[in-house]
Amino acid sequence: MLLAQISDLHVRPEGELYKGVVDSNAMCAAAIEHLNGLDPRPDLVLITGDLVDEGQEAEYESLRSLLARLKPPCLLMPGNHDDRDALARWFPEHAYLPARGPKHFLIEGHAVRLVALDTTVPAQHHGDIDDAGLRWLDGALRATRGVPTIVMMHHPPIASGIPYLDKYMCRRPERIAAVIARFEHVERVLCGHVHRPIQQRWAGTLVCCSPSTATQIALCLRPHAPPASFSEPPACLLHWWRGGVMLTHTSYIGRFAGPYPFA
Ligand SMILES: [Fe+2]
Ligand SMILES: [Fe+2]
Repeated sequence: MLLAQISDLHVRPEGELYKGVVDSNAMCAAAIEHLNGLDPRPDLVLITGDLVDEGQEAEYESLRSLLARLKPPCLLMPGNHDDRDALARWFPEHAYLPARGPKHFLIEGHAVRLVALDTTVPAQHHGDIDDAGLRWLDGALRATRGVPTIVMMHHPPIASGIPYLDKYMCRRPERIAAVIARFEHVERVLCGHVHRPIQQRWAGTLVCCSPSTATQIALCLRPHAPPASFSEPPACLLHWWRGGVMLTHTSYIGRFAGPYPFA
């Protein structure tokens, strides 16, 4: 099973730029074209939050028309820039999204089970999870025991070392770690939010953060580094379950020189 992951599309109303500078809608369209062109084509596309930039109705309208071009099926989950109830309203055919409240969901029926944990806190940029969310996660992981499972959460439960990002990570991550560490079938914890590819072993599994389809956060590891972003090449992650293991590739989106006649 081939799972593609894109994240942090930050789609804007038609004709408007992300932060007034970057055409995130055109970049989202390029990401969709890239996913449609992959061979083999992904079985499923996971979109791990910040689907739009300000939670506006006009942004979800843009997102709907952009996603209509995506050929593989996709799963949507909110990030801190989304309005999670507006998201559910705009995508009624995504019936796994509860109409109100946290958008936790479990998708079965594939070789890999998909568990989405909604770490968003309405009107806040950091992530957190309440006791009900932890109980839900525990139940979902009990239900999938013995089958390879991916947990998706928008906010990483790990510090990136990029100081201005870490203020907005998922708070109290040890509570989530205590649940996940009880199970052996969690192949990955897939995150967005940090707009960079980052991996770390955590809670007995591997946290993988996806790049953004729009701008990438500056890789500044000094303690007082000021916030900054760059138009580095956007990318998606490809999580390939085959032969009983999960392998993750990074696939850059764009046109690059080559192919050259050597490997
Ligand atoms: Fe984002
Ligand atoms: Fe985010």
